[in-house]
Amino acid sequence: MIFSVLVFCACVLYLYKYDSTMELNEAIQNRHSVRQYTSQKIEGDVLSALQDEIDRINLESGLHIRLVTNDPKAFTSLLAKNISKFKGVQNYLAIIGPESDDLDEKAGYYGEQIVLRAQELGLNTCWALTAGKKDIKKDLEKGYKNVISIAIGYGETQGIPHKSKPIEHFADVDGAPEWFVNGVKSAMLAPTGMNKQDFRFERDGDKVHLVSGKGKLRRIDEGIVRYHFECGAGKENFVWD
Ligand SMILES: Cc1cc2nc3c(=O)[nH]c(=O)nc-3n(C[C@H](O)[C@H](O)[C@H](O)COP(=O)(O)O)c2cc1C
Repeated sequence: MIFSVLVFCACVLYLYKYDSTMELNEAIQNRHSVRQYTSQKIEGDVLSALQDEIDRINLESGLHIRLVTNDPKAFTSLLAKNISKFKGVQNYLAIIGPESDDLDEKAGYYGEQIVLRAQELGLNTCWALTAGKKDIKKDLEKGYKNVISIAIGYGETQGIPHKSKPIEHFADVDGAPEWFVNGVKSAMLAPTGMNKQDFRFERDGDKVHLVSGKGKLRRIDEGIVRYHFECGAGKENFVWD
């Protein structure tokens, strides 16, 4: 009897994990940057689920990510409107954290987890260098930095897939195990600043090393790409080197 209960619980757990992995990979496939938003508010169960994810991430990471909603002045600077072509943005995430050498990478790694959860909840997003409210971290003690923002809401469209470099640019996949190829493919779908895709994976057995290029945003990109690789490859299949 106890054995049957244990087997049943194991099956339920397996199915739950399988289901959430499927949903995450679907979100990775379907996510594209969206810069024009409708006036539909984020509210009810969607808002609660999004806030739950932000709380979970803040607890795990030590970051201080904040969701700002219903701010009509968001993303209305000349740069945001004329260069990035943002329109109708009313909500955004401010990715804030205590200054440290790895803050940018953490911002990317954890911010992207919220981006993908938002996609699962039917929302659209776009990472952005546009800063939100000036006083967004006024109540926090000194030493906190507002790294970057993410526009969030119901998009006018679902966006379009970005142009990608060929897989050979990112890794030597000849004869590589399936988990590695899946990880690289998932990373190729990651958002990167100006779509630079300036990264490469090197593999030695089950050890994977991420090499990233140059530029101001490279550490944020690195965090985002690292998370995508983990989702595609499965964390149980490899170790970071
Ligand atoms: C760190 C980072 C900063 C970004 N900053 C901006 C920005 O300031 N304005 C903008 O329009 N898009 C910005 N983006 C979005 C990228 O242009 C976009 O992710 C890239 O072109 C790939 O397209 P995709 O997100 O649709 O896959 C940024 C993306 C990242 C990862």
